[in-house]
Amino acid sequence: MTNLILRFSAIKTKFFALTVFALSLYILFIYLLSEKFYFANKKLPLSSVELPNVVVHIDLKGTPLKLTYLESLFPLMRRYGVNGLLMEYEDMFPYEGNLANLSAEYCYSRVELKKFLRKAKQSGFEIIPLIQTFGHLEYALKLAEFQHLREDPLYPDSICPSKIESLLFLEELIKQIICFHETVTALNFVHIGCDEVFHLNQCQQCKERLGIINNQDLLLQHVRFISEVVNSLSAKTTILIWDDMLRDIKAYVWLNIEPFNNVHPVYWDYGSTLRVTHKNLYAYHKNFPHIWIASAYKGADGRISTMMNVRERFLNNFRWMRYILDYKFGGEASYTFNGIILTGWSRYSHMDPPCELLPVSIPSLVLNLLVIQNFKSGFSGAGINNERVVVENFFREHINVELNKSFKCLTNYDNLDFSVCKFEGQELYKIMIQYILMKKEISKELSSETNAIATLEYYSEQGSINMNNVLEIKEYLVTKLDYLKNLENLLVKEISKYYHYDFAKEYTKYKSFQTKNKLTKLLNILNNYMQKRIWNRRTVSKISNVSTQGLL
Ligand SMILES: *[C@@H]1O[C@H](CO)[C@@H](O)[C@H](O)[C@H]1NC(C)=O
Ligand SMILES: *[C@@H]1O[C@H](CO)[C@@H](O)[C@H](O)[C@H]1NC(C)=O
Ligand SMILES: *[C@@H]1O[C@H](CO)[C@@H](O)[C@H](O)[C@H]1NC(C)=O
Ligand SMILES: [Zn+2]
Repeated sequence: MTNLILRFSAIKTKFFALTVFALSLYILFIYLLSEKFYFANKKLPLSSVELPNVVVHIDLKGTPLKLTYLESLFPLMRRYGVNGLLMEYEDMFPYEGNLANLSAEYCYSRVELKKFLRKAKQSGFEIIPLIQTFGHLEYALKLAEFQHLREDPLYPDSICPSKIESLLFLEELIKQIICFHETVTALNFVHIGCDEVFHLNQCQQCKERLGIINNQDLLLQHVRFISEVVNSLSAKTTILIWDDMLRDIKAYVWLNIEPFNNVHPVYWDYGSTLRVTHKNLYAYHKNFPHIWIASAYKGADGRISTMMNVRERFLNNFRWMRYILDYKFGGEASYTFNGIILTGWSRYSHMDPPCELLPVSIPSLVLNLLVIQNFKSGFSGAGINNERVVVENFFREHINVELNKSFKCLTNYDNLDFSVCKFEGQELYKIMIQYILMKKEISKELSSETNAIATLEYYSEQGSINMNNVLEIKEYLVTKLDYLKNLENLLVKEISKYYHYDFAKEYTKYKSFQTKNKLTKLLNILNNYMQKRIWNRRTVSKISNVSTQGLL
């Protein structure tokens, strides 16, 4: 019997050893075949994207950024390959004459803006003004003197392209901006917006317009008209437009129009999963001399976002680069996209609250510029399908080394935290992180099921709160309110280093308003309740003899 057991366990041991051996062989085999090994040990052929223009979008709508701060970013942007600035002034431009009311009161002065533009030109940036000419004209159409130009009287965003006064207004707008710039520099490009025209072909005048069959006709005719206005003022200027309104144009409509010879569509997509289609690109390729693309480094993660989602921003840019790498329309050579605009939205629209601030977005900007720079100088992961492997290698080899050099910090793809990085907005960045944590903690506490805070509003009306809980809750509220006020002061101080003081106040108040009101309200409730010395007996409702259905 013992013998048998011994023999059996010997067989078991042998079997186990064999299994382990086979398994190790298998793992080694898989590893040798894996892309990780392949990538680390083989020099893959480099392929690269061309992208002659790398443009950063400076969105100034309702965000009076100090121009001296913007200038201080020039060396950094040049170092990471930026050669153009898309200036979306909106209400920050010093308009004149009958357009004077389009400017916010804190708009730039003509003198300081010219000085800035000269400096930008000297630093090697192409200046591309963005002038909205169809939708997103709230800053003009909201005013009494321009409300008659709206396509739909209810909505101040879209202009009616069929009214003579609209065209005169747009001509004046374009003229003021182009003439202002041309005293500093010739404009190679002007961006005429034309995205998100939410109200199109709705008014009687548009519907009855001769020769216009549908919305797309109207749109294309307007684009043609505006591009002619631009070229009548500045013959050599190329016109850029956002592409979204072109996406639904049917193939037969494209076939029946005359191709544009001086307009370049900018195909924008800010998601980590691109929804770009070959069909659209092909239509643009056939109807326009060049195509641009646009990604986002900030302002695309929600209209009230405080900090951008860095991973989303990275993946958006990274996937764009992989998408256009060796892009081919047919059998011919790789297509060259004329440029990329890295958008950095400051508000989703004129009347939306501000989203992420520029100073806290610098690490994201640099990270994404590094992505583009590396794809321009040659990308070695083209043959690898496992994106995770490519990204991790890419981070280790290109991103980390550069961030360490420029910002004295190390990060990796799993932990995209820049709060330890040394850059000018670091202090503000840290305060924002603190703010986000605090807000999360408070909202969790206010709805907690383990303490009585969430019951205060109802039970104070009922006159029934456990007095033993009251002091503790009060202390919590007072502490949080103090902390919040402290944070507000810090925020105003930090933000006004970069922006006009009024904007610093707006941003700070907007961020703390709701939380502060809620805490204050609860504190008032408690303070009143604490006066209570006598409580009533529980009473019975006067209507309790009626059927209890639907009594609340
Ligand atoms: C600007 O707005 C003010 C106040 O509404 C108005 O009195 C003035 O006429 C406007 N200016 C122009 C140039 O329309
Ligand atoms: C980061 O930079 C420091 C010097 O600035 C250097 O000593 C260190 O090796 C760098 N680390 C990495 C991982 O590149
Ligand atoms: C409750 O019952 C009493 C007696 O039946 C009746 O007079 C009274 O109207 C009832 N109350 C309501 C709210 O129906
Ligand atoms: Zn109209």
